[in-house]
Amino acid sequence: MTALQLDGRHIVLGLSGGIACYKAAELTRLLIKAGASVQVVMTEAAEKFIGAVTMQALSNRAVVTSQWDARPDNNMAHINLTREADAVVVAPASADFLAKLAQGRADELLSLLCLARRIDECPLLIAPAMNREMWAHPATQRNVAQVAADGAVVLGPAAGDQACGEIGDGRMLEAAELCDALIAFFQPKLLAGRTVLVSAGPTYEAIDPVRGITNLSSGKMGFAVARAAAEAGAVVTLVAGPVALPTPARVTRIDVTSARQMHDAVLAAAAAHDVFVATAAVADWRPIDAAAQKIKKVAGQGVPAFSLVENPDILAAVAALSTGPYCVGFAAESHDVEAHARAKLERKKVPLIVGNLGPATFGQDDNALLLVDAKGTRALPHADKLTLARQLVAEIAARIKS
Ligand code: CTP
Repeated sequence: MTALQLDGRHIVLGLSGGIACYKAAELTRLLIKAGASVQVVMTEAAEKFIGAVTMQALSNRAVVTSQWDARPDNNMAHINLTREADAVVVAPASADFLAKLAQGRADELLSLLCLARRIDECPLLIAPAMNREMWAHPATQRNVAQVAADGAVVLGPAAGDQACGEIGDGRMLEAAELCDALIAFFQPKLLAGRTVLVSAGPTYEAIDPVRGITNLSSGKMGFAVARAAAEAGAVVTLVAGPVALPTPARVTRIDVTSARQMHDAVLAAAAAHDVFVATAAVADWRPIDAAAQKIKKVAGQGVPAFSLVENPDILAAVAALSTGPYCVGFAAESHDVEAHARAKLERKKVPLIVGNLGPATFGQDDNALLLVDAKGTRALPHADKLTLARQLVAEIAARIKS
C-alpha cells in the first residue's frame, strides 16, 4: 500500500476554459485519493466544459466561481482561498488564461487569486492546454515564458492527438501525470544539481532467437529509485533491462536487453554522473554463442548442450573508474542478507550496498532494505518501493554531501 503522498496538503485547483476540463475531474479524484483536500475554482468558460456539480461531488466542497460570491464573512474569496493553500494548480490553463497571468490581470476570481496569493508561500503550477497553433503562437510562447519567469511551474503540455482533430503540442498532461508532478514538486530537492545513473530490471541472455536466460527481477525497485532521484531534483539516466514499466517523469531511459549491452550503456554514461545505483539483477552467465536459428527438438538426439561464460560485472567496473560516480550496489539474497551484503561491499569495492531478500521482493510493490556500509548497518523497514527509494535517496544525498 503506497503511503498517502499528498496527506495534509490543501490544493486550490483552478479550471479555465478548455476541453481538457474533463481531465480535471479525474485529477481531483487522484488528488483526493492521494490524501489532499481540494478546493475547485472555475472560470465562467470552464463551466461551459464541465459542470460545477461534478467538481463539487468529486472534491466534496462547493466550487467557487466568482469574486462576487458574498458567502465568505469578509467577502474576500480571492484572499481567503490561497492563504490556506499549499499550492494553486491551474489545469487546464488556456491560452487566454496564460495571457492574463502574464499581464497580472485580475478581472475574474481565478486570475485574481493567482495575483493575490503570497508568491513565496503558495506556489503556482500551471498545465497549459490548447490547440497546437495557439500554443505555438509567439504571443502564447511569450506569455508562458513570462509566467515561468514570474515563478510559476509549467507542467507540459504534451504532444499528440487534439480534440480539434489536429496533432501536435498543446495537449494537457494526463491527470495521473499531473498528480505525480505535484507529488514530486513537494519532495525535498536533496539531489538538486546532481546527476544519477540507475541500472534496473533483469537482463536477457539469448540461447537462440526464441529462448533465453533471464531472472524474476521486475525492475520496480530501480524505477522507483530513478523516480525518487528525479523528484529530489537530480538529472536521471535509467538503463533498463527488458521490463514493461512506464518511464518515470523527467528520466532519460536507455533500453537494453543483455548484460553486455547494459555494461556498454552504463560504462558509456558513468563518468558523466555523480551517483550510480546498480539495482539491476544482471545475469551472471550467458551462453557462449547464441544459436542463429531456433534449436529444434530432434527425436532421439536428447537435450541440447550449451556452455556458459561469465558476464562482465558492471558495478565493479564502474567502481574501478578513477573518476567514477559514487556507487551503490544492491544485493538480492535468499538468506543471510547482511553477511552477503557486507561481503559484496568489500568484493565490489563500493561505499554502500543495499541488501534485500530477492525471492520475497521480486515483482512485489513492497520491500525491506538493509543499508550496509563501512560504518555499520541500517534497516529501512518494510514499505512500498517508492517510499524506500525516497529514503535511500536521502541516505545517498547525505553521504555525498559530506
Ligand atoms: N551487478 C552488476 N553486474 C553483474 C552482476 C551484478 O552490476 N554482472 C551488480 C548488481 O546490479 C547489484 C550488485 O552487483 O548491484 C550485486 O548483484 P548480485 O547479483 O546480488 O551479486 P553477484 O555479484 O552476482 O553475486 P551472487 O550472484 O553470487 O550473489
